[in-house]
Amino acid sequence: MQTLAIPSTQYRESFLTGAAEFLAEGRLDSTYAVCLGYTIDSLAERLPQFIEDLKSLADVERSGAQYSDRVLWLIAEDQYIGQASIRPDLSTSYLLTYGGHIGYSIRPSQRRQGHGKTILALTLSASRQMGLKRVLVTCDSDNIGSRKIIEHNGGRFESAMSMNSRTFRAEGRKPTRRIDKLRYWIDL
Ligand SMILES: CC(C)(COP(=O)(O)OP(=O)(O)OC[C@H]1O[C@@H](n2cnc3c(N)ncnc32)[C@H](O)[C@@H]1OP(=O)(O)O)[C@@H](O)C(=O)NCCC(=O)NCCS
Repeated sequence: MQTLAIPSTQYRESFLTGAAEFLAEGRLDSTYAVCLGYTIDSLAERLPQFIEDLKSLADVERSGAQYSDRVLWLIAEDQYIGQASIRPDLSTSYLLTYGGHIGYSIRPSQRRQGHGKTILALTLSASRQMGLKRVLVTCDSDNIGSRKIIEHNGGRFESAMSMNSRTFRAEGRKPTRRIDKLRYWIDL
């Protein structure tokens, strides 16, 4: 059975293995480590502090960030599988246009087993419990897996917005090729 859990040191070994997998594909920041100032080594050395920092992202007064971001881990058989984030307020123009309410990623060794569809389904339930009525979920036009996940979970396509150098930067990416961000709405 899969659940969405509050990040915890209970999942230390599988989280650190998963983080190393994200690092190997050049996406350590899927775990939020890079934006919170951690490396793969300091994650292992200071995991309890990392988890506190991760939780503080939900509270803008603690994090000083522009928006609240609640991060949850997908757990299956007591192992960390990936993370989802819920941004209840689309309070920046980036979020409103490109980022949307929900993000998710599955650690590389656990992909193509249905976890992506499950993490979005569970995150939609969590969003409903937080009082959201309708969410914007977005993905890159060339991200076939994510498109399928959103459409499987009832996403209604609204529009495609072209990514520019500023929006690539907001995602910590280099503008390599032309990409549109596909915007879908899901009623909860
Ligand atoms: C995108 C991502 C979440 C998919 O996770 P996943 O666990 O592999 O997804 P699922 O197993 O639920 O697959 C959903 C569908 O997409 C397909 N799929 C998944 N990855 C695919 C890929 N790379 N290419 C083509 N199809 C893919 C699956 O075969 C499945 O298709 P089906 O409905 O026809 O059976 C994962 O690859 C990931 O974390 N990528 C990096 C971060 C990211 O892109 N996050 C999404 C940001 S919007």
